[in-house]
Amino acid sequence: MVDGAQDRGRFIVVEGGDGSGKGGVIEALSARLGALGHDLLVTREPGGTDEGLKLRELLLSADGAVWDQGAELLLMTAARIQHVKRVIRPALRAGRTILCDRFVGSTLAYQGAGRGISEQLIRGLHRDLVEDLWPDITVLLDVDPRVGLARSRARLGETGLDEGRFEDLDIGFHDRVRAGFLDQARHDAARTLVIDAARAPDAVRADAVAQVMARLEALAA
Ligand code: TYD
Repeated sequence: MVDGAQDRGRFIVVEGGDGSGKGGVIEALSARLGALGHDLLVTREPGGTDEGLKLRELLLSADGAVWDQGAELLLMTAARIQHVKRVIRPALRAGRTILCDRFVGSTLAYQGAGRGISEQLIRGLHRDLVEDLWPDITVLLDVDPRVGLARSRARLGETGLDEGRFEDLDIGFHDRVRAGFLDQARHDAARTLVIDAARAPDAVRADAVAQVMARLEALAA
């Protein structure tokens, strides 16, 4: 398997259900890593390139409900192909540290566990079209979706963003997404940090920063 360790940079991905607090954790990680002198690239999916942002709009707005789940998978993957080839891989080669809000783990959880698309298909697309690039470290923010969705809907209400299509799906879907993430964490325990994200935001951020620092030191040793 090709992974970020073969490049000079480090590839750190933050995953979790809707409203799990990824944004705050990424801010805290970028503050700490920036202070330590890392050359940082902070990015996200779906998005990460101009063309990816157009796909993000298509996928996440209320109108996005028109996509069949197979089309949804291919559009998420299309955005990731562009992101990896044009942004992530060149940054890793240049020795930068990448902090990415969601990656293929989200596809396995949402389109795989949530929608029921075969994991084999998702992994095959990733292997053949996305250079089989996997994170050096995945930070999984784990929280009961009932808690996460309440946070996420409150934020969407405040910002007026039309990005709530996944939040609108039923709780059974979000329970499957959570289980899908935890399943991945069990299978890739060596590269995944599971953080209890039900706690107060400051505690979650401090825990995530401490655990990522320890893991980066271990990788450098
Ligand atoms: P995001 O902007 O991270 O939303 P939130 O802050 O609410 O977590 O992600 C947008 C949505 O896109 C989120 O509901 C998960 C979904 N998604 C997928 O279904 N598959 C994917 O591969 C990715 C990257 C995101």
